Amino acid sequence: MERLEQWKQRLLEAHNSTPFAEKKIVFGEGAAAPVLMMIGEAPGGDEEKQGRPFVGKAGKNLSAFLEKVGLEREEIYISNVVKLRPTKESPKTGRAVNRPPSGEEIEFFLPFLLEEINIVSPKIIVTLGNVPLKAVTGDKSAVIGDFHGKPQPLPDGRILFALYHPAAVIYNRALQEVYDKDLTALREFLEGGLS
Ligand code: URA
Repeated sequence: MERLEQWKQRLLEAHNSTPFAEKKIVFGEGAAAPVLMMIGEAPGGDEEKQGRPFVGKAGKNLSAFLEKVGLEREEIYISNVVKLRPTKESPKTGRAVNRPPSGEEIEFFLPFLLEEINIVSPKIIVTLGNVPLKAVTGDKSAVIGDFHGKPQPLPDGRILFALYHPAAVIYNRALQEVYDKDLTALREFLEGGLS
């Protein structure tokens, strides 16, 4: 996809003049014009090492997700709002640990994400957690508790299907049932036939 390549070059150039220019960029990957584009928050350590989104532990979660909704990784497109790993120094070990993306990081990457969505042109956008939900809706007050588990039309004709972030489900066991129900709803929506 030539447009995507040009977009990547523009992102890399703009990234060069940010305060986080030394951080490695992890681009999205997957099918063009897919039925579903999944958008996470930001890459973690495994993603930064391998230069690919949703690998390592998050990749295992993704595989479980795909199995539940009846899709293959190659059929979808996978990306993140922030395309570098946000880290801070652990006071205990002095090593880099994950932190939530900053407002500055989100603001830098947001216009690129919106362009990426247009180029990739998915029918359905699945957001994981609050960061991509706010990014895709353009509504900073949007919260996952209100949006999850049901298809929502977006102004551009695509459909948003918001999910909790799998990491939140791991930390909050009570969400497991909700998350499972949401995946069943997504599967049924996908099976309902999209023209
Ligand atoms: N890995 C990613 O690429 N994104 C996430 O949101 C979490 C893990």
